[in-house]
Amino acid sequence: MTAKKPAPTSRSAKTLSVMPTRRDVTFDLPADRVHDWASGNVHFTHLMNTMSLVIPVGERFFIDAVRYYRDQVTDPELKKAATAFIGQEAMHGREHDEYNAKVFERLPNAERFEKRITALLRWFQTRTPPSMRLSGTIALEHLTAIMADGLLQEPRLKEQSEPGYSALWHWHALEETEHKAVAFDVWTTTQGTGPRAYLERSFGLVLATTIFWAEVIPAYLSFLRHEGKLTDIKGWRAFYRLAFGEIGFLRKMVRPWFDYFRPGFHPWHHDNRAFLEDIDAFVDQYTRTQGPMARAA
Ligand SMILES: [Fe+2]
Ligand SMILES: [Fe+2]
Repeated sequence: MTAKKPAPTSRSAKTLSVMPTRRDVTFDLPADRVHDWASGNVHFTHLMNTMSLVIPVGERFFIDAVRYYRDQVTDPELKKAATAFIGQEAMHGREHDEYNAKVFERLPNAERFEKRITALLRWFQTRTPPSMRLSGTIALEHLTAIMADGLLQEPRLKEQSEPGYSALWHWHALEETEHKAVAFDVWTTTQGTGPRAYLERSFGLVLATTIFWAEVIPAYLSFLRHEGKLTDIKGWRAFYRLAFGEIGFLRKMVRPWFDYFRPGFHPWHHDNRAFLEDIDAFVDQYTRTQGPMARAA
């Protein structure tokens, strides 16, 4: 998208340019739309639902990885950003837990999938060094940031979807954009930019992407089988349009994924801060104290 502000040039400028804010929000997610909230398409909806299932456990892993290094950060602004990052991811986990409870009700094998991911991440937590966990975190933050950018760039995904689910994903995409460089800056500050750091972060993206899709795809297909949609050609056609065709949510991720392997890569080299201009106006509608949820309570 077109940048409205000049691209940042130094690491501290990048860190300073976007300070994340923890926001306490909640969303109204109708249980009877959990299987088709995205453009009325069960195939695309369950892909997003499968990703939602890994979010709370994944983001707790990111929180621990960043928290481990926070005390080594001396730049007060980056330290503050790391604390805000932790606060935002905690809120995302809480809202996705609410969302996932509805997925569990719909799909009997969804909870087993979540437990499998929890066990996998626990293995990484106990068997790998902290730098590898931070490398995995910045890799998955990159994947999240490019998915978020894809959602924010395509208004049709939002307009054609059930408003509660759509709002939750929109909020999450905005905050993922807002904090997309925080874990990366913690990485650069604590691991440097030398060949070892470059190889470790590059390996992290290959490994994280491979594991992510190797886990997500079989679970996703099992959910579609449960819905009796595996052989629904019309549904797959609509999915193709959303994921790879005209709208191309997944197709648009390919090029930015490769940018990560540039030796001097920084998340804000893709300057999409313009999306954040209306973030507070957007989330005000969903805050616990003054939004429609509170008024409805
Ligand atoms: Fe998040
Ligand atoms: Fe994140």
